Amino acid sequence: MENREKTAIRLDDYRPPPFLVRTVDLTFDLHPERTQVRATLSLERNPESAETGPLVLDGYDLELSALSLDEAPLPAEAYRVDRNSLRLIDPPKEAFKLTVETVLKPDGNHALLGLYRSAGIYCTQCEAEGFRRITYFPDRPDVLATYRTTIFGDAKTTPVLLANGNCVSRDLMPDGRIRAVWHDPHPKPCYLFALVAGELANLQDSFTTGSGRQVALNVYAAQDKIDQCAYALEALKRAMRWDEEKFGRECDLDNFNIVALSDFNMGAMENKGLNIFNDSFILASPDTATDQDYATIEAVVAHEYFHNWTGNRITCRDWFQLCLKEGLTVFRDQEFTSSVRSRAVKRIADVKQLRALQFPEDAGMLAHPVRPQSYLEISNFYTATVYLKGAEIVRMLRTLIGSAAFRKGMDLFFRRYDGQAVTVEDFLGCFLEAPGPVFEQFMLWYRSKGTPQLEAKGHFCAKTRSYELTLKQRSPQPDGNAGKQPMVIPVETSLIGERGDMSVKLDGRPFDGLLVLDREERVFRFTDVPDEPIPSLLRGLSAPIHLHIDRSDAEIARIAARETDGFNRWQALQTLSMNVLLDGVRAEPKDAPQDFLFAIGAVIDDAAQDPAFAALALTLPEEREIAQHVEGLLHPDLIHRSRNHLRDRLSRKYGEAFLELRAENVPGAPYAPDPFQAGRRSLRNTVLDLACAGGDSAAFDLAWRQFQEADNMTDCVAALGILARSRSRRGQEALTRFEERYSDKPLAMDKWLAIQAALPDSEAVARVKGLLSSDRLADRNPNRVHALVGTFANENLTQFNAPDGSGYALVTELVAELDGRNPILAARLLSAFAAWRRLEPTRRSKAEQALRALRALRALTSDVTEILDRLLMEASKN
Ligand code: BES
Ligand code: ZN
Repeated sequence: MENREKTAIRLDDYRPPPFLVRTVDLTFDLHPERTQVRATLSLERNPESAETGPLVLDGYDLELSALSLDEAPLPAEAYRVDRNSLRLIDPPKEAFKLTVETVLKPDGNHALLGLYRSAGIYCTQCEAEGFRRITYFPDRPDVLATYRTTIFGDAKTTPVLLANGNCVSRDLMPDGRIRAVWHDPHPKPCYLFALVAGELANLQDSFTTGSGRQVALNVYAAQDKIDQCAYALEALKRAMRWDEEKFGRECDLDNFNIVALSDFNMGAMENKGLNIFNDSFILASPDTATDQDYATIEAVVAHEYFHNWTGNRITCRDWFQLCLKEGLTVFRDQEFTSSVRSRAVKRIADVKQLRALQFPEDAGMLAHPVRPQSYLEISNFYTATVYLKGAEIVRMLRTLIGSAAFRKGMDLFFRRYDGQAVTVEDFLGCFLEAPGPVFEQFMLWYRSKGTPQLEAKGHFCAKTRSYELTLKQRSPQPDGNAGKQPMVIPVETSLIGERGDMSVKLDGRPFDGLLVLDREERVFRFTDVPDEPIPSLLRGLSAPIHLHIDRSDAEIARIAARETDGFNRWQALQTLSMNVLLDGVRAEPKDAPQDFLFAIGAVIDDAAQDPAFAALALTLPEEREIAQHVEGLLHPDLIHRSRNHLRDRLSRKYGEAFLELRAENVPGAPYAPDPFQAGRRSLRNTVLDLACAGGDSAAFDLAWRQFQEADNMTDCVAALGILARSRSRRGQEALTRFEERYSDKPLAMDKWLAIQAALPDSEAVARVKGLLSSDRLADRNPNRVHALVGTFANENLTQFNAPDGSGYALVTELVAELDGRNPILAARLLSAFAAWRRLEPTRRSKAEQALRALRALRALTSDVTEILDRLLMEASKN
């Protein structure tokens, strides 16, 4: 749809809403092709706004069928309607009621925004700006109202009728339809509105809060899927208890409902009391879900539940403050997972994700501050930066002020702003004195884009038993701000000696492990240092930055051997691997250095102590992470070659040890997705993969047997991946058998699609094209598209970047097609091009060609043009 006239929205232009809405009374008469919506809004002027003038309500693609003011129909000259708004030219000075009737077409709605139907189920998605596709409304998060929702639906096809809040009544009407009335007593912005209707089964439970209130819990799904919802329900209860214990937050609802849907753009959505999920984040059975899927379900269920306080009760003043709810809630869900699983393993997983998604975003054409200054389409800013860097900022805040002060600040935040729509400054003001220099300096994290760099140098003086550590930062500057402003960087540090952690003094006091760099450069002088230490910096990745320090492999290996911080032990091994891998990119790969091979040997020896950790430690950095560390232009084939070479080397050296580890780590009990078993499986599958990397046929026999005998999806799909990557007859056979077995289980088939999309052979483009035109992909379901094309574009480095440009063309052609149907899905696929300017010249020009060809099409949405224009922006302007 043509949308080019759209102009940028700017943070600096924020004005309070001229009108407030106190109550919203909605009535839906549901029909697949023609749903009528009546909305009665009680409106009044906002005393905080200086604006007089007309009432402007947002709308999108709406058919207006009636309009009245205080129950009297409005004459045509009293209002104007255009594609994006309804304007009441001369609204009353006092409070008034406006009734708007609109007509929607749920069945033709493929954008998956507003009201749509997915597999026969009516549902809504309103964040960020979907409510305007339902009725005319001030569609902005700082307008909070209480909602009453009446739904009329067919008794046969929509026996279940849900909305936010509590069910007030449910009646069978004389015409055979059902009427359900819901009331939500908590004022909320319209993006949290939700409705669901259809033939749904439910799983019921209840939760007693710390203060003794009963909350009825329900998970809804299609009848044939309800037996896969139990794990999600248990996870919900764990999250509810944890939020009480760790944040003092009780559930404020009588009903908490979760719905699983098969057509959903995002992972899940925190609508007040009615969370809606992409079913890939709810459904689980050992036969179809991996250990990783179980862990993700637990995290996503928790995340949406945690929004009830961080997002819903305290919401965002405007969409520039998105990190206020998303970054904070990601931080909370990460903490939850850390405390119900392993802290070190979770931290490593989170940092891997940050580096895989956020660092490249921050280094490429789509870089933006955690709190952006302007946007065309807010849906393009639900990014790794807002989410993951946003969470890192909250974590740094806690590191800097300490856990106790952090908890006090959170309590104050909840007390001070409950029921309000607030800003990042409001949040930060609960922890740091505002205004003030410390506050302003910390705000730089929200206002700057790009990943800061930290350089470290150490010097030991044996005579004075002192150690000088010089830290120097190179930090990006916020848009439009000249001059050098250093950021505040918490650097958790340990000095490692012969026997591990040294206890030393800093400024005459026992060193507590935290260095704070708040100037461009600073020298930290440690005393009482018995012998030359090796500094282990940035423990737990205490800041989302790049660290540069000159160190020999032997020194890094010593950290790997002696560090007590699990994260930095893992980091040391990754650094060793990365050094070998980068050498192999620069020149023909040689043999791996002894220090590296020895460190890997030590991991193998210690693996029994923590199999989950060992699995992570034995996993080499992914190709796209290596790409970030390559200096100069990117040659994907060289990166691929270097990584394969090293895997082959490890396989040849340690193949037997790997197979022994695999034999020793049998989980031993019937399948359960708990962290203990999952850790063992993860190690078994990691070492099996490594054992196969050298082409050992005995190892492949084991993989083949595992594929045939697996009683769980984790082992099955791990073996499938290994076999498929071998490009052998067995690989093909395994793919075929998997397809036969799971052809009616779309979520399992997504794994099958993803494995094939990631195979780095020269058939990849043709194969992905073939699958794209298969029946499986015919309806362009977002999960299928992400599994196939998302995986291809983001993980298959060599084939997406095929030198003839065919990988780029595949993606941009699909984007063009999807844009007419689901612009959010289309725009997201384009982010795979973030690093295109770093490619070597042949590929770079092919990528540019593909992007420009797409840009030249008429009738692109602003979702896609915004991303394209940022991708194609002159490098100097970015
Ligand atoms: N509020 C978002 C869902 C959302 C995102 C709606 C973008 C509309 C536009 C939800 O809380 C969320 O963040 N979901 C994540 C998963 C989460 C575990 C990080 C998602 O959907 O990916
Ligand atoms: Zn969220």
